[in-house]
Amino acid sequence: MEFKRNIIITGGAGFIGSHVVRLFVTKYPEYRIINVDKLTYAGNLANLADIEDRENYVFVKADICDFEKMQEVMAAYNVDSIIHLAAESHVDRSIKDPFTFARTNVMGTLSLLQAAKCRWESLPEGYEGKLFYHISTDEVYGALQFDGTLFTETTKYDPHSPYSASKASSDHFVRAFHDTYGMPTIVTNCSNNYGPYQFPEKLIPLFINNIRHRRPLPVYGKGENVRDWLYVVDHARAIDVIFHKGKVAETYNIGGFNEWRNIDIVKVIIKTVDRLLGNPEGASLDLITYVTDRKGHDLRYAIDSTKLKNELGWEPSLQFEEGIEKTVRWYLDNQEWMDNVTSGNYQSYYEEMYGKR
Ligand code: NAD
Ligand code: TYD
Repeated sequence: MEFKRNIIITGGAGFIGSHVVRLFVTKYPEYRIINVDKLTYAGNLANLADIEDRENYVFVKADICDFEKMQEVMAAYNVDSIIHLAAESHVDRSIKDPFTFARTNVMGTLSLLQAAKCRWESLPEGYEGKLFYHISTDEVYGALQFDGTLFTETTKYDPHSPYSASKASSDHFVRAFHDTYGMPTIVTNCSNNYGPYQFPEKLIPLFINNIRHRRPLPVYGKGENVRDWLYVVDHARAIDVIFHKGKVAETYNIGGFNEWRNIDIVKVIIKTVDRLLGNPEGASLDLITYVTDRKGHDLRYAIDSTKLKNELGWEPSLQFEEGIEKTVRWYLDNQEWMDNVTSGNYQSYYEEMYGKR
């Protein structure tokens, strides 16, 4: 079958990537989606069980740092676009092991860019009809004070954690490939995502699972840090809009104008889980445990996504109350998914098929 487009989505077995793959595979049967994922601890093909048999979906187990392999995949599937999400994504892990973050986020992005460059420059039409779309984070902009200011697309980069430093570096490489070689690129910087299939090392799924098992909820510092939360499906919808209508060489910020102090969000999670489990109101408040703060903990993130709204018409579809309710319900209804992930079972699940990680 001849496909209208052949799109690599990297990191498609992860949290956000799986939502993007699902959206593109189901909404655009005329596109072939090639999910390139190394299946690190954060990659789980169970996240895509509902779409894995679709004719327009292909999974390739590969490391984006493997330049030869990336070239091979680009040619084998005649790839015209890349939506790049593969990354090491957890700040606490980056504090313990910055090398892995530099390797995947910086060198991996560079290897993918160079493979795309070699392939596309070898074709008669060159870069025409091609796109390298890089998914990044608001954390590259650094930290805001409690003064109502927001990150815009022109805010100066000021990353503080090894994670955000590695993402900032990858953003610079993507823009450099546009400016130097004329590669059509787009970069988007999104705020904190929440929703189904998020690895339970991140605040929201970790706390939902801990409440269920009556384990302590480790709140860093005083719980006063502020994050701007967006439902993951709304991020995937934004990626769809930007992929189709975004202007080459532009940057778009994606966020929900939805700031929460950590301690307040923890209380909302407790209230929702207790209600859905039939516990008395406030039953799990005693689980809140203040622990030593994260090193270099950024005080506040908040995104101004006015440009995306005005130029491309995207807005979040879900109010936070609705999104958090859906999210808590999903984790409580999918305890098997959570148990597989927390026990590590999911890591041996696909070993027979794809070999050891
Ligand atoms: P995740 O950790 O859940 O998933 C990352 C995926 O990338 C996994 O499937 C993993 O197996 C894969 N991967 C890691 N290293 C790889 C490599 N070397 N080669 C191939 N695949 C590899 O991450 P996420 O939360 O879904 O984030 C996805 C992207 O979105 C990242 O680039 C992240 O920086 C960005 N982002 C995340 C958030 C958020 O709140 N989670 C917010 C803004 C931007
Ligand atoms: P996290 O989900 O790790 O996302 P990020 O660091 O990318 O914002 O953390 C969200 C916020 O919650 C952040 O301010 C750190 C805080 N946090 C805790 O207080 N306790 C925890 O156990 C975790 C994982 C995070």
